Amino acid sequence: MRIAVAGKGGVGKTSLAGLMTLILSERSPPVLAIDADANSNLGEKLGLDAATDMAAAMEGLRKGPEGVPKHDLLRQRARHAVAEGDGHDLMAMGRPHGEGCYCFANNVLKDVIGALAESYRHVVIDNEAGMEHLSRRTVEGVDLLVLVSDPSPVGMRSAARIRDLADEVGIGARRVTLLVNSCTPDSREGARRHAEAAGFRNYSFIPYDPRLDVLNMEGKPLRGLERSEAYAAVERFCERLILRGS
Ligand SMILES: Nc1ncnc2c1ncn2[C@@H]1O[C@H](COP(=O)(O)OP(=O)(O)O)[C@@H](O)[C@H]1O
Ligand SMILES: [Mg+2]
Repeated sequence: MRIAVAGKGGVGKTSLAGLMTLILSERSPPVLAIDADANSNLGEKLGLDAATDMAAAMEGLRKGPEGVPKHDLLRQRARHAVAEGDGHDLMAMGRPHGEGCYCFANNVLKDVIGALAESYRHVVIDNEAGMEHLSRRTVEGVDLLVLVSDPSPVGMRSAARIRDLADEVGIGARRVTLLVNSCTPDSREGARRHAEAAGFRNYSFIPYDPRLDVLNMEGKPLRGLERSEAYAAVERFCERLILRGS
């Protein structure tokens, strides 16, 4: 299943994409995690370090060696850009360099990522807040769009805007769901109201978890959280929306 995680900055997209990748790689490997946020650190959450990224692999593609088809060249480079883990691999998109139209580059990239994704049971894409990759459609065929919000009305409205943008640009996600992250028992009722007001019918809560926050602050992989409430909530989410349906 192809799962795209999106939402405004700082709501927990990378943390939740990381946890989903780790849980899915235990339960239903292999998983490809795509870091589509140039400012992000999905690799850090997974304990993986990609040697290069797709933007670097694209550099100079137009001027590549004569006679070698661009797709083949990029496919080779893409393989090199994948960091291998235990049950899951990581590919970072990086930031495209230079100005101008990326149509050519995007189309090649889309094909290459599509071909690469074929060899994984699940693909988890951590998007940047600006939705660049979704709106440039470098990643297609999303089965589940996971919008992440904090419990605030502002977060919910951002999530609703992204939901509507995804609909407009036609990424064609088969299902859309909301994860209300960093919930405390006190914020749940309000969060429920705000989610409903923003037009969400399908949402789940992920509790605030100080241990997760400490690991993030120390720049450590999200390991050893198996008994934490947030981990358990993400696991239930994966069971209900990803594992049961695939
Ligand atoms: N469930 C949670 N419990 C506690 N802290 C969290 C939780 N989810 C995210 N955080 C914290 O929120 C901050 C932003 O998380 P991050 O995953 O980087 O968000 P994003 O990718 O949306 O910018 C980090 O400091 C992280 O530790
Ligand atoms: Mg992030």
